Amino acid sequence: MSDFINRFWSDYVAVVSLLSILGCVILLWLTARKRVAASADNTTGHVWDEDLREANNPLPMWWVGLFVLTIVFGLGYLAVFPGLGSFRGQSDWTSRGEYEAEVARATQELAPVYAKYAAMPVEEVARDPQARAIGERLFMGNCAQCHGSDARGSKGFPNLTDKDWLHGGTPEKIIETITKGRVGVMPPMAAAVGSPDDVKNVANYVLSLSGEPHDSVRAGLGKSKFTACAACHGIGGVGNQALGAPNLSDRIWLHGYGEAAIIQMINSGKHNEMPAQEGRLTEAQIRMVASYVWGLSNNSAVASTP
Ligand code: HEC
Ligand code: HEC
Repeated sequence: MSDFINRFWSDYVAVVSLLSILGCVILLWLTARKRVAASADNTTGHVWDEDLREANNPLPMWWVGLFVLTIVFGLGYLAVFPGLGSFRGQSDWTSRGEYEAEVARATQELAPVYAKYAAMPVEEVARDPQARAIGERLFMGNCAQCHGSDARGSKGFPNLTDKDWLHGGTPEKIIETITKGRVGVMPPMAAAVGSPDDVKNVANYVLSLSGEPHDSVRAGLGKSKFTACAACHGIGGVGNQALGAPNLSDRIWLHGYGEAAIIQMINSGKHNEMPAQEGRLTEAQIRMVASYVWGLSNNSAVASTP
C-alpha cells in the first residue's frame, strides 16, 4: 500500500533517487577520465592560509573502489527493499511486517507465562510478584502517560489508587473499562438550572455535600435546583457508576476543586474519554494490567499473601 496521494509523487521520488545515483556514476567517470591541468610542481594552483597548496594526485584506488561499491550497494538495496516511490522491492519487506512478526514472536514466547495467570482469579494475580511486575511494565508503557507513573492521575485523569471509582472498581468492571474504553459525558446544564445566580447557588449546594467551604445561604437556595443533576449524580450527589457520574459528596475532584471549577462544569459540561485498549493489548495483557490496577487500591488484600 502506498501513502502517496497520486502516482506523480511516487514517480518523482523514484526519478530523483535514480538520477542522484546516476549523477554519482557520471562524476566518478568524469574525474577518472579528465584531470585538472597540473602545474609543474603537481599542485592545482589553489593556495590557502598563505602556503597551503592542494596537490593534484589521482583518487586512491581503495577510495574509488569503495565509491563504486556504494553505488552498486545502493542500486541493489533499491531493487530488494522499498525505496523507489511506491515500488515494494523484490523482498516484499515492510517495517510493519517486521514489527508484526516480532510482536507475534513475543506473544508466542509469553503465552505460557500468561496462561499460568489466565486460570487464576484477578485477586490472586494481583498478589503474585511476577504478575505485578508484568502489570506494572504494561502500565508504564500504555497507561502512565495519562494516569501518571504512580497511577494517581491528574486533572481530568482519574486516580486509580483510591477507592473512588467513576465506572466501578471490581475486577470485572476494570477489565471492561480497559477493554472497551469509557466515555464520561456531562451535558452543559446552565439552561436547565436557570440564571447565573442559580448556577452559583447549585455550585454552593454541591460544595456543601462534601462539607467543603461554601456559602450556606446560596447552598440552601440551590438545593431544589439540584434535581436536574440528581438524574445522573443521584440524590445527595452520591454518584452513579452506570453513567460514570462522579460522587460529588466525597471531596475527590476530577476536574478541579472549588466554586469556579463547579460553575465551569455546569456551564460547559464535559466530554472525557478513556480510549479502548482492545486493539492495542491482548486479552491476556488487559487482564494482567487490570490485576495490577485492582491491586493498587486494594493494598491490604495484596499484602496479605494467602
Ligand atoms: C489517553 C489517555 C488515557 C490512556 C492512555 C489510558 N487512560 Fe484510563 N482513563 C482516561 C480517562 C480520561 C479516564 C476517565 C474517563 C471518564 O471520565 O469517564 C480513564 C479512566 C480509566 C479507568 C476508570 C476509572 C474509574 O474511576 O472508574 C480505569 C480503570 C483506567 N482508566 C485504566 C487505564 C489503564 C489500565 C490504561 C492502560 C492500559 C489506561 N487507563 C490508559 C485516560 C486514559
Ligand atoms: C447526563 C448526566 C449528568 C447530568 C444531568 C449532570 N452531570 Fe455532572 N457529570 C456527569 C458526568 C458523566 C461527569 C464526569 C465527566 C467525566 O467523566 O469526566 C460529571 C462531572 C461533574 C462534576 C465534576 C466532578 C469532579 O470530580 O470534578 C461536577 C462538579 C458536576 N458534574 C456537577 C453537576 C451539576 C451541579 C449538575 C446539575 C446542574 C450536573 N453535574 C448534571 C454527568 C451529569
